[in-house]
Amino acid sequence: MTNKDDNYESFNIDDFYKKYLNGPQLFKKREALEPSFVPHELPHRDKEIEQIASRTACALRGDVPSHFLIYGKTGTGKTATVRFVSEKLAQYSEKIKPWWIYINCSIVSTPYRILAHIYNTIVGSEQIPPTGLPKDVIFKKLLGLLDYKIKNSLCFLVLDEIDLITDTKQGNEILYDLTRLNENLDNCRTCLIGISNKLKFKENLDPRVVSSLGNEHITFSGYNAKELGDILESRAKIAFQEGVINEGVIRLCAALAAEEHGDARKALQLLRKAGEIAERSHNKYVSNEHVRKAQEELERDHIIDYIKGMPLQAQLVLTSIYLISKFPKERIIVSGDIYEVHKELANLIPGVSTLTRRRISDYINELHSAEIITAEKKSLGYYGRTKVIKLNIDKKLLETIFMEVNKIKDLLNYKPILIQKNKVRISDSTFRRLG
Ligand SMILES: Nc1ncnc2c1ncn2[C@@H]1O[C@H](COP(=O)(O)OP(=O)(O)O)[C@@H](O)[C@H]1O
Ligand SMILES: [Mg+2]
Repeated sequence: MTNKDDNYESFNIDDFYKKYLNGPQLFKKREALEPSFVPHELPHRDKEIEQIASRTACALRGDVPSHFLIYGKTGTGKTATVRFVSEKLAQYSEKIKPWWIYINCSIVSTPYRILAHIYNTIVGSEQIPPTGLPKDVIFKKLLGLLDYKIKNSLCFLVLDEIDLITDTKQGNEILYDLTRLNENLDNCRTCLIGISNKLKFKENLDPRVVSSLGNEHITFSGYNAKELGDILESRAKIAFQEGVINEGVIRLCAALAAEEHGDARKALQLLRKAGEIAERSHNKYVSNEHVRKAQEELERDHIIDYIKGMPLQAQLVLTSIYLISKFPKERIIVSGDIYEVHKELANLIPGVSTLTRRRISDYINELHSAEIITAEKKSLGYYGRTKVIKLNIDKKLLETIFMEVNKIKDLLNYKPILIQKNKVRISDSTFRRLG
């Protein structure tokens, strides 16, 4: 038995739960901090609420609003505001309430699944299977259903995170089809609302789609620290017991999230995580220290998700950097090294091709923008002007992440040729170093 085993204390789940139940209760309604929660008020979104309400108000008189687009970075309240206005509109629709169908393109992303999702939402059950039917068959079925089930009423189709489908031909086609639904319907009418996180997404859009979606759009700007503070305060009142959150904690969460383009989701996440950390450590109040810990944990989670979600080639570029920084001490890493090591790794995995120096350089820039590495242009005598690369995250953390990526985990002990002392690489061949 090793020392580690001797010292190991087994986890007692009964004690854990008892302690938990006897510990202080910080939350009153935890779900009020979830992104899906629709609050009754949306501070600092009056202008945006007014714009969306004005565009959709004609629905109250039985008219059909034109399609429109909403832009703004993540966490600026786009989804919450649309849901808020839809609920208000329903409240004021005396006779027939319009239908609202939400399609989150990060989850439902193919034309087939978008059509199936709309169909299934209207019928209220999974009638169209996840795959199998030809697209035009579903399209016809959908037209029939809209006319038969929604009849003379209006159906809003909200395509949230629309930027995720506009870079493909298929995506453009389905958008075109959806903007033209009304021409093929006898009774029902539809209004398309596209929500995008990226301002530039229109560049990828088919001009015909742009013209039917309208050239104007509603823009949501990021919140400043003061505005985030107000949002957090109104949410904290619902989510936490009285006295658990002080003003300093709110201000700190708001300031940290304001640094990140004024993202309310981030601010709420921080507050929730800080509350959970305080609860875990049996504190009665949330402190600034808890917020800072929460920030660290969120950054860590974010990096883990980001790296796991990268394409394999980007992961291989990062693995190359990891392998070079792992072995020798104080070695300067230049992009040429990464190119060489990537080539060796690519040759070890069936079906993976080597990349040009140009592509490697693109991946290096992406990793730099994601702050996983730093890549600085420097003048080094021997190499001329080149990029000097450093790993920006903990090697142990990276190792833990890559251990869970199947194609990468076996490469973690690979020793690149430029590090193997007894081999040299000249041009494209490897030779054993003499004596
Ligand atoms: N003005 C606001 N008042 C209260 N909560 C807000 C406000 N803006 C955003 N939120 C909250 O922040 C989170 C992110 O908002 P969301 O609408 O999902 O952003 P987006 O769709 O722009 O990414 C949600 O929990 C939402 O309820
Ligand atoms: Mg959203």
